[in-house]
Amino acid sequence: MKKYLVAFVIALLPMTAVASGAGPKLDHVEIDLHNQASLQRGMQTFVNNCLGCHSAQYQRYGRAAEDLGMPIKLVEQNLLLGDQKVGQQMTNTMPKQDANKWFGNAPPDLTLEARLRGPDWIYTYLHSFYKDTERPWGVNNIIFPSVGMPNALEYLQGEQTLHCTLDELHHETGKIDPLTGKEMGGCLTISKKGQQSAEEFDRTVTDLVNFMAYIGEPSKLESHRIGTKVLIFLFLFFFVAYALKKEYWKDVH
Ligand code: HEC
Repeated sequence: MKKYLVAFVIALLPMTAVASGAGPKLDHVEIDLHNQASLQRGMQTFVNNCLGCHSAQYQRYGRAAEDLGMPIKLVEQNLLLGDQKVGQQMTNTMPKQDANKWFGNAPPDLTLEARLRGPDWIYTYLHSFYKDTERPWGVNNIIFPSVGMPNALEYLQGEQTLHCTLDELHHETGKIDPLTGKEMGGCLTISKKGQQSAEEFDRTVTDLVNFMAYIGEPSKLESHRIGTKVLIFLFLFFFVAYALKKEYWKDVH
């Protein structure tokens, strides 16, 4: 019995440690599916900057509006492309074959991307574009070398320049600026300013990744809501069941 119990406990241990292999260090992003304002901003950024190339074909506008607490009218007026309807999936009209020709690889559907790569990967990826005149779009990406995607958010972030090799960058130990006490990013710097400051851009990308995490698992929000109610019910029901048990067994002994 003891052996089974031990085996059972081991089986319950999370398996995430298995997946943590070598590779570039990823920045961490805090996902908060209960922050509706963040999810709404993320959806706006997604529709305005990504949906032209990437679809999110398993997500419907209407469902997102409902889950994120947005009035349908507002979504219809501001977020729908062309003559799309709110009940439709978030698709675009880019023909796959043409896209293959233009980009080398067609832009993949992003509905499940946050589950495939993880939010930290997407967050780091969107921060990691740098100028590379040898690439067709003039940019490369630190964690996705020879990427076929242009830097869609460059107008916000600005243009980044890499001053060392990728290998050196991955081993950069983060020298500390003696004046500010902050880590100096010697290898990767902003060489042309964008519309947002570094902090604003971090927030924009956090909101965007938050939204992408939501579309990867839209029912998670609902499960949380229902889950809490179920737990409260079970807690209360325990007392009822216990009282009933006492009543039944009262005369047996
Ligand atoms: C001009 C078209 C275009 C725009 C706009 C665009 N992308 Fe891409 N994206 C691509 C292409 C093409 C690829 C495939 C790159 C490759 O495989 O080399 C890609 C790849 C990606 C990937 C990696 C997919 C994977 O796992 O292999 C992510 C994540 C991504 N894009 C996110 C975004 C986000 C978020 C936005 C909006 C901020 C965006 N993209 C805007 C064209 C675009």
